[in-house]
Amino acid sequence: MVQYEKLSKHTGAEIKGVDLRQPMSPEVAKEIYDIFVEHCVILFRDQDLTQDDLVRASANFGRLDNPGRPAEFFPSGMEKMNPKVMLITNIREDGKPIGALPDGEMWFHHDTIHRDMPTKATMLYSVEVPTYGGETVFSNLFAAYDALPDDLRKAIDGRMAINAYSFNSTYKDDSNAVAARNQAIHPAVRTHEDNRRKAIYLNRLMSQQLVGLPEDESRDVLDRIFDHIEKDEFLYVHEWLKGDALMWDNRSSIHARRDFPADQIRLMWRTVVAGDSKPE
Ligand SMILES: [Fe+2]
Repeated sequence: MVQYEKLSKHTGAEIKGVDLRQPMSPEVAKEIYDIFVEHCVILFRDQDLTQDDLVRASANFGRLDNPGRPAEFFPSGMEKMNPKVMLITNIREDGKPIGALPDGEMWFHHDTIHRDMPTKATMLYSVEVPTYGGETVFSNLFAAYDALPDDLRKAIDGRMAINAYSFNSTYKDDSNAVAARNQAIHPAVRTHEDNRRKAIYLNRLMSQQLVGLPEDESRDVLDRIFDHIEKDEFLYVHEWLKGDALMWDNRSSIHARRDFPADQIRLMWRTVVAGDSKPE
C-alpha cells in the first residue's frame, strides 16, 4: 500500500516512501494515480533527479507530450535540455531569460487550456528555489463545483467557454484577448474521465467569455466564479523545497504562482502528460 498524507482539507496529498529514480510497478503507479485523481495534486519530497529520471518518473502516469509551444517561444536554455523537459527559470544570460515564465506572480490557470487537447498532468521538479516566495497555490475544482451557489451553477452547467493565452503572459491583459492566436473552446464544467466527478473548467488567466451570454453578463459570472474558486477553503499553498516533485491534474485543478525576489534564482524542470493518454 502506498502511504500518503493529505496536505490540506481539499487539495493535495504527499506520497511517502517513493524514490522516483527507481522503476515503479504498474500496480504502484495505478495506486499513486488514483490518489492523484482524488486529491488533484501529489507531492514527492526529497527527490534527487536528473532530467532523464524526471522523464521516466512522469511517464509512469501516461505518455509525455513535448513542451507545448512554437519554436519562436522556446527560451535559449532549452537547447541543452532533454526535449521532453521545459526549463522554467529567471536565470538570465546577456540580460535575456534562458527559461520560460521567468519572473514573479502568475495568475490562476489550467496548463494549456487554450489548446484543443490540453495536457492531463504537469510534473514540476525544483532544482533551485529562492529563500522565500515563489509558492505554487492550487485549488480543487471538484470541491469548488460542489460548493457553487445555485445561480452560478445554472449559469455554467452545459455552457461552453472560450479560453485564450499569449505565451509567457502571467496575468490577463489585452494581449490575452479572445482574438489571440492560441485559443480553444471547452465546456465550462468538465466531467473528469477517471472518476466522473464534475469540476469547474474556467480560470482567471485564460477564460475569456462564456459562449451565448451577453458580454457584460459573461464577465460578471466569470468574475464571481474566479472569486469563488480562489477561496482559501479550496487551496493548498505549496512552499517549495529543493528536490520536491509535484504533479497536478489539469482537468480538476488550477494553480497560481506567488511573487518571489528577483535577485534570487528559481529553477524548475517541467514535464507534461498528454491529455489523451492513460497510465500504461
Ligand atoms: Fe502553469
